[in-house]
Amino acid sequence: MMHEGGMYAWRNPWFRWSLLSLSIFTVLSILVGFVWLPSVHGDFTAQGIWASICRAAGVPASWSSGAAVKAGPGSSNVVLERDMARAGASDSIGRGATLALNCTMCHGAQGISISNAPNLAGQYPEVVIKQLHDYKSGKRASSIMEALATRLPDKDIEDLAAYFASLPKARTAPTTYDESLPPLVRVGDPMRNIAPCISCHGGVDQKLGAPWLEGMPKEYLVGQLKAFAQGNRHNDPEAQMRNMVRGMTTQEMEEVSAFYARKASPAEGR
Ligand code: HEC
Ligand code: HEC
Repeated sequence: MMHEGGMYAWRNPWFRWSLLSLSIFTVLSILVGFVWLPSVHGDFTAQGIWASICRAAGVPASWSSGAAVKAGPGSSNVVLERDMARAGASDSIGRGATLALNCTMCHGAQGISISNAPNLAGQYPEVVIKQLHDYKSGKRASSIMEALATRLPDKDIEDLAAYFASLPKARTAPTTYDESLPPLVRVGDPMRNIAPCISCHGGVDQKLGAPWLEGMPKEYLVGQLKAFAQGNRHNDPEAQMRNMVRGMTTQEMEEVSAFYARKASPAEGR
């Protein structure tokens, strides 16, 4: 349809005339604006039509002379800045890696703790962000982490989270989801209102905000479960963890923690 319309318009003599006069008018205004008007000015040095057009259009004279090629000391900086801006997420990870040098003493060089501090490698970024904000606001108590987190601006927290999320997770023995899983992990205990751990902590499903537990130091896990049970840790939304552990025995806390802390066989372990 458009095509036929165009053909029809072209056959129309009025259309052809208006097109022709428009073209002539355009060429004339270019000549007047770029060549004739500039040439009337005193500094007109007839370098040809091209130079005149460039000058009238505001192009710096040095562009056409080749003098601009001399690179000042600052010119490479501009390129670097542009590259960095384009890098986006990877820039965040790189910045996070530098900031994380302050964390390696306790959380390990690759985010895998060799002490009883939690692993951060492969942890969901939203978990690291939430926990650091909770330490910062005092919602989660830890003298070490509260002191550290208060000094971290939001941007640092985001970059640290991006960096730790990019690291490979701790290697644990493969999960088989069979009878050998502790019952609380696999099916929970409906009579005591204990939901299966895997329904929130991964395996079957990961609930937003529930941390990655696999490979965490056992002492850390037991410590957190006890802290939830005693109410010393109370930053879990809707008291999800506090309700869960209230009915658990100390032995059960040890058992589920040992399961999550299980290591890959020594041959393939770190
Ligand atoms: C002196 C040792 C130490 C240093 C240094 C340290 N941490 Fe920690 N971090 C800990 C301990 C211990 C805990 C567990 C505290 C608790 O029981 O709540 C922890 C907990 C955390 C948690 C919560 C993890 C989870 O699974 O809930 C995050 C996130 C964290 N640290 C991030 C960092 C970051 C980021 C840095 C560096 C800026 C850092 N830490 C430096 C010892 C340390
Ligand atoms: C209904 C969902 C849900 C279930 C079921 C659940 N958890 Fe959690 N768990 C959470 C959430 C959410 C958090 C993070 C709380 C916060 O924001 O600090 C958490 C935190 C934890 C932490 C602290 C981890 C850390 O690094 O800070 C441990 C340990 C833990 N859960 C163990 C368990 C175990 C073991 C079970 C099974 C007996 C279990 N959870 C069942 C939702 C759940």
